[in-house]
Amino acid sequence: MTRSLLSISELGVAGVGRILDLADHMAEVNRRPNPKVPALRGKTVCNLFFEDSTRTRLSFETAAKRLSADTMTFAVSQSSLNKGESLRDTIETIGAMGVDAFVIRHGSSGAPWQLGQWTTASVVNAGDGWHAHPTQALLDMYTVRVALNRREGFDGLRVAIVGDVKHSRVARSTSAAFRLLGADVTLVAPRTLLPPVHDEHSTSDLDDVLDDVDVVYLLRLQRERMSEALVPTLREYTNRFGLTPARAARLGKHVLVMHPGPMNRGVEIAVDPAELPGNVITQQVTNGISVRMAVLFDLLGSGSESSLAGGADG
Ligand code: CP
Repeated sequence: MTRSLLSISELGVAGVGRILDLADHMAEVNRRPNPKVPALRGKTVCNLFFEDSTRTRLSFETAAKRLSADTMTFAVSQSSLNKGESLRDTIETIGAMGVDAFVIRHGSSGAPWQLGQWTTASVVNAGDGWHAHPTQALLDMYTVRVALNRREGFDGLRVAIVGDVKHSRVARSTSAAFRLLGADVTLVAPRTLLPPVHDEHSTSDLDDVLDDVDVVYLLRLQRERMSEALVPTLREYTNRFGLTPARAARLGKHVLVMHPGPMNRGVEIAVDPAELPGNVITQQVTNGISVRMAVLFDLLGSGSESSLAGGADG
């Protein structure tokens, strides 16, 4: 049966644990002088990015190549979509060329589920609208697990997710994953940037929670998704919700500082992250390759980790 990765809730706690354990194997592969294994030789992965991306697109492409899969990258701007071809016909056309997995980012919530109706290949959600970004959540969980050496879960871990929660698919997936693993998550945002329906673990006072957290997860202010002014001014937003030098000075050295990228420097993060003892933002990016290798291997691999042992020709 074809399997897909569409959301954290569909993966469940066992599935998240399985991917994080596999990511350990992939991180070991990535530390080798020749970080390439034949595990997905003969498989083809097609990247379909209908929205801009740097990290997710390039790390999926790298992940597939390190597992020896063939890759197809679909350039929307050079495609026959511009001649009026429908998305369904596009997917069925690419599928007819022989694709084992589609990795899709789309501006419409639910697009990966719709794509799954049109193909027998696996589908990986690389971000759909405001809805979900499960592989970001997985790489975030992996980063925390490694940084804090917490293999057994996150019971008692106190996490603040700060900023534009309303427009953030990252906030939805990452908060779900943290909670699945036992963390205590507080959403911190202006009332205008909280979803209409949110749980009681939310506040609009960042300073109230800052002394009692183990992880500060900063979100990008997504001005491209705002149809009206939801914050008075950027300066006021930074004063109330940004990681300013004064707030950074209050953070204990053990506190992890995370951001999914891309960052609005001077807005949600008004310090140089490199100067923060708990900065793991670069590790998030690096771990994204191991985690996406784990996701592709989980969906398309033989099920045997022995295929990760040998090297592969470059
Ligand atoms: N975090 C994230 O999804 O970044 P990109 O938009 O660059 O892929």
